[in-house]
Order: sequence, then C-alpha cells, then structure tokens
Amino acid sequence: MVYYKIRGGRKLYGEVKISGAKNAAASILPGLLLINGICRICNVPQIEDVHLTIEILESLGAKVRWLSSDCIEADCREIGSRTVLPHLGVRMRASHFFIGTLLGRFGEANAPLPGGCVIGTRPIDQHLKGFAAMGADYAVDGEMVRVSVKNGQRLKGAEICFDMVTVGATMNLMLAAALADGVTVLKNAASEPHIVDLAGFLNAMGADVSGAGTDEIIIKGVPSLHGGSYSLIPDQIEAGTFMAAVAAAGGRIRLSGIIPAHLKCISAPLRHMGMEITEGEDSLMVSRPGELSGIDIVTRPYPGFPTDMQPQMGAVACFARGKSTIVETIWEDRLRYTSELRRMGADITVHERTAIFHGVPHLTGASVEALDLRAGAALVIAALAADGVTQISNIGFIERGYHDLTGKLAALGAEISREAEERDTEEDH
Ligand code: EPU
Repeated sequence: MVYYKIRGGRKLYGEVKISGAKNAAASILPGLLLINGICRICNVPQIEDVHLTIEILESLGAKVRWLSSDCIEADCREIGSRTVLPHLGVRMRASHFFIGTLLGRFGEANAPLPGGCVIGTRPIDQHLKGFAAMGADYAVDGEMVRVSVKNGQRLKGAEICFDMVTVGATMNLMLAAALADGVTVLKNAASEPHIVDLAGFLNAMGADVSGAGTDEIIIKGVPSLHGGSYSLIPDQIEAGTFMAAVAAAGGRIRLSGIIPAHLKCISAPLRHMGMEITEGEDSLMVSRPGELSGIDIVTRPYPGFPTDMQPQMGAVACFARGKSTIVETIWEDRLRYTSELRRMGADITVHERTAIFHGVPHLTGASVEALDLRAGAALVIAALAADGVTQISNIGFIERGYHDLTGKLAALGAEISREAEERDTEEDH
C-alpha cells in the first residue's frame, strides 16, 4: 500500500509553479485525433489521467512521445482503430471525449459507456443528444456505446441547446463539430477556462470556433485541421488547492505560472475569510495574516465557485471561526469527504447537499482515506494544519489529478512524504 504521511503544524513559505490544467488536457489530448498532422502540446501535466489518455491515443494508432517533462509530440495521421478499448476507457471518466473526436474525424466511434463514479452518476445523455442532432445514430451494446454517421459521412452542423450547463458535453460537441459539414451553435454552453482553452487549441490547428467563454459557442466546420503547437493553460484547481493549503496551515506563498483572472472565483471567498491575496501579472501572493472567519459557499458553473474546489474549502472551513455553510449543486455525492474530516475531529453535519461546519481550534492526525481526487486534496490540506501525524490511503485518486503534490508541498516546508508499506496479505501469495 502507498500512502501519504503528513506531520501537521508547519506553515508554508516559498514559491510553487502551477502545472498545466488537468481538465484542459482531458479534452485537448483526445482532440489530437482530429488532426491530420503532427502537433506539439506543452505545459502538459504529468498526472495519471494524462498517461492513460496517451495510452488510449497510442492504442488507436497515434504516435506520441514526450519531448521534455511537460511537452509531447503527437502524430495522428494514421489512425487505424475507431474503438476505445474497454479496459483502458473505463479507467478514466473523460475517455468519452474520444467519442467526439473519432466521430468528428471518421464518422464512427465505439467506447465504453462511462459508469457512475464516486462523486455522482455522471450521465452522457447531453453528449449523445448533441451527436444525434448532428445526424449520428447511437446504440448501447452491453458496456459499449456505438455512435456513427450513416455511410461514414461527416456530421452535419446543428443548433444544440443543452438542458443544463455541462462542461463535458460542451467540449465533446466542440470537438465533434470542428470537422462537421456546416455551422454548429451550442446554446447554454459552459464557459470554464478549459473550454476557452479547447477553442484556442482547435483554432490554432485551423478550426473556426468563436464565442467560447460565453453561453453560446459557434463552430463553423472546416474540411481538415493541420498540425501546430499549443500550450495548455495552468490548472485553476491546482492553484486553488495551494491557496486553500495556506489558508489552513498558515504562511505566505507565491503561485507562479498562473492566470489570476481564472482564480477570482476562488480568491473572493478566501479574502472574505480573511486571507490576503495580491495579484501579479502571472502570479499570486497568498498569505494568512490571522484567524479566519466562516464562509457560505454554493458551487456553480464558471464564473461561480467551482465544485472542484468545494472539498478543499471544506477543509479550510474546519478551522474557520464560527459557522460555515457549503452547498454542493453540481455532484450529488461530493460531500463524502466530510466523514473522513470528522475522523480528524472536525465538527460537520451534512443534510442532503448542504454541509454545515463549526470551526474547531485543532484537528488531530488520523488514518484516513482519499475517497476521490478532490476529497483526497481536502484531507492533505486538513492534515497540513492538524496536530500530529495523518496517514492518507488510496492516494491513486490524488495522483490522477495532481502533479507531484508531495514534492511541491515539501518544497514549501510541509512535512509530507509518500510511503510504501509492504503488505503480507493472502492475495499476495
Ligand atoms: N450532466 C448530465 N448529463 C450529461 C452531462 C452532465 O446530466 O450528459 C450533469 C452531471 O451529472 C452533473 C452536471 O451535469 O450534475 C455537470 O456535469 P459536467 O458535464 O459539467 O461535468 P463533467 O464534464 O463530467 C467536468 C470535470 C469535473 C468537474 C465538472 C464540473 C473533466 C474531466 N471533469 O466533468 O472535474 O467537476 O466538469 O466542473 O473535465 C475534477 O477535476 O475533480 C472533476 C470531477
């Protein structure tokens, strides 16, 4: 078993360089399949989800190599397969983006249907509804979803209005529409920074996408996309996680390589709690001058407060004076981390999608489990500020989405290590 061991109580000081955005890589790397040429993508985070995405690209016929620690080159001129192998696809929720790209380029895509996951049911009905509006047929065959355009023709541009704001369906339809015949208009579209980044990537390769960042995105289909270079935006949520870490543990850090505008929705509630945050051109100084006060947060699509920062803010709320209230509106099962924080002494009650925190002076180290990616990040934050030693198991979840979290925190002065424990269980024999 591998786990993180954290001895709390060290304030954080120094500078941390933020990596490329996980959720931009999630759609842009599958987007390489649309390109009949060679692409270079930089600022790619070295996280498990990226390694798996590259494995899927290679299984379809792409040639991918790392040019440096954060830069890849991909040649997608010869793609032999139209099928995402189930044993690879089911390991990553975002494998659904391969449906949009295979369908957009070849008129056919087969991929495992994403199941429910630990934060909620995660349906893809809005993606499928969009593909159908563009002329595709789809069928569910066991665990696989098969989507195709009749006679291998191109998708046709269409007007699609999503029933709810969905990041995944917005990006999947942008990918599918880039090579479609005619104009696609996406209404009630999501406007997260990684959606703007996907549009930037597609346009850099010859696509015609406008309106990204608003609730209406227009994609004028082009016959083909060419190779080129693109650099991913920095990870808004990784940056926010370090901001929350300083809020809980104390100290003063500089985040570098960031886009301050993307962090306003996270800075605002942290400032309200008492944090000092100063924006530079591509950096942010974050410090905790004194005690924090409670906060009320409701998660919303961008530019609202991001659900992917909700558990980390929950960890901060454990220490804030008085009462804090967090309402999770996006994922039905994203308050489970509170049970692990309670094991460390937090005072939290949960009613359906609302968590109420009463600040306590100290949490105490305990053995706890990362129940999903951001739940794991919340435990790391709580552990940095807790008395004594915390052991966090199931860290595979954390490493799917954070590049070298332990190394970056240790460089800021945290006492954190990644440990491996030999287990002599029956299954080992
Ligand atoms: N929804 C539907 N039908 C659909 C699609 C979505 O009902 O066809 C619902 C979902 O059940 C959810 C809501 O719409 O209640 C929003 O889902 P969305 O499609 O926006 O989420 P996603 O694309 O599956 C991405 C991120 C998540 C992040 C959400 C919201 C990736 C790979 N994942 O998921 O990131 O929470 O957007 O911002 O981009 C994370 O990084 O920890 C993470 C879970």
